Amino acid sequence: MADKQSRKIAIVGGSGSVGSPTVEALLSHGIHTVTAISRSESTAIFPSGVTIKKGSYNDEEFLVEALKGQDVLILQLGYMALDSQIPLISAAAKAGVPWVIPCEYACDNKHEKLNEEIGLMVMKNKYRAQIDSLGVSSWIGIVNGPWFDWNFEKSFMGIDIKTRKAKLLDGGVKFNTSTLSKVGKSLAALLSLPDSKLSAFKNDFVYFSSFLVSQRDVFDSIFSATSTKESDWAIERESPDRAAEAAKEAIRQGNGMGNVDLLFTTLSRVGYGGDYEAKVIGNDFLGLEQEDFDKVVKGLVEKMEQSK
Ligand SMILES: NC(=O)c1ccc[n+]([C@@H]2O[C@H](COP(=O)([O-])OP(=O)(O)OC[C@H]3O[C@@H](n4cnc5c(N)ncnc54)[C@H](OP(=O)(O)O)[C@@H]3O)[C@@H](O)[C@H]2O)c1
Repeated sequence: MADKQSRKIAIVGGSGSVGSPTVEALLSHGIHTVTAISRSESTAIFPSGVTIKKGSYNDEEFLVEALKGQDVLILQLGYMALDSQIPLISAAAKAGVPWVIPCEYACDNKHEKLNEEIGLMVMKNKYRAQIDSLGVSSWIGIVNGPWFDWNFEKSFMGIDIKTRKAKLLDGGVKFNTSTLSKVGKSLAALLSLPDSKLSAFKNDFVYFSSFLVSQRDVFDSIFSATSTKESDWAIERESPDRAAEAAKEAIRQGNGMGNVDLLFTTLSRVGYGGDYEAKVIGNDFLGLEQEDFDKVVKGLVEKMEQSK
C-alpha cells in the first residue's frame, strides 16, 4: 500500500477477540497513535505503545475528554456489552470524532433473505442509526462472515476434532469466513488509507474475507491435518435446509446453541448470502497477503490437539 495516512485511533474492547489483532495490526503500521479506552474495573492488558484511558462509560466528561482530537473510534465490545456503544457514540459526536467503526463484524447486513433468518446483524442497526442521527461522525460497518479460527476452535462448524464427530451439511454451499488476524489487518489497512480513498466507504459496509469455503472443504482439509480418513469419523448427514429447520426448533425449545447451528446452516443454504465474494475488498487494494487455508486449518488442529 503506497500512500498511507497516519491517524489518531481510539479503540474500545482492544484486548478482546477481534480487538487484540486489531491493535497489533494498527501498531504494525508504525504511523498511528493508538489509545485504548477501557472500563475502570477492567483487567485488560495492552501492548506497549498503546495509551490507556480507563474510566466509567457513564461518565460523559471522561469519554469526551478521551475522544477529543481522535480521528477514529473503533468499537469492539463483547456481544453482551453492545449497549455500552450508546454513550461512546454520543461522546464521539460531542468530541467531533469524524469516523466511528461500530460493533458489526458479522455477515452480510445487506442480504435481505439472510437477515430475515438471522437476527445477529439487524440487532446492531440501532447503533448506526444513532451515529446517523447525531450527524457528526461517519461510520464504516465491517462484514467479515463467521470468524474462522474462533468458530473452528469452538467446534461451531459442526466438526468436533476432539471427539471425531461431524454433522455434515450435504450439499452445503461455500460461504465467506475470515480469521481474526485477517479482520485486524484488513481494518488497520483500511484505516491507513488517505482520506481521498477512505471517504469511498463512508456510511457503508466493507467486506473482508480470508476464504470462500464450504463445510465440506473444511472437513476435507481436516483429514490431512489430522491424518484421518472419513471412516475414522462418526458422521451424521443432513441437508442445510432440514438442518436449519432443526436449529429453529432447538431455539424454540430454548437451546441457545440452536442460534449457532442456524447461522452455519443458513450460510450453507443456496441463496442465503453466505457467499459475498463479489463484494470483498481485495488483498491487493489493502496490501495484504492471501492466507493459506490448509496451513490455517493445520495450525488450528495442532493447537487444539496440544490442549487436549
Ligand atoms: N463473526 C464472528 O464469528 C463473531 C464472533 C463473536 C463476536 N462477534 C462480534 O464481534 C464484536 C466484538 O466481539 P469480541 O468477541 O471480540 O468481544 P470480547 O472479546 O468478548 O470483548 C471485547 C471487550 O469488551 C469489553 N467488555 C466486556 N464486557 C463488558 C461490559 N459488561 N461492559 C463494557 N465493556 C465490556 C472488554 O474490554 P475492557 O476490559 O477493555 O473494558 C472486552 O475486552 C461484537 O460485535 C460481536 O458481536 C463476531
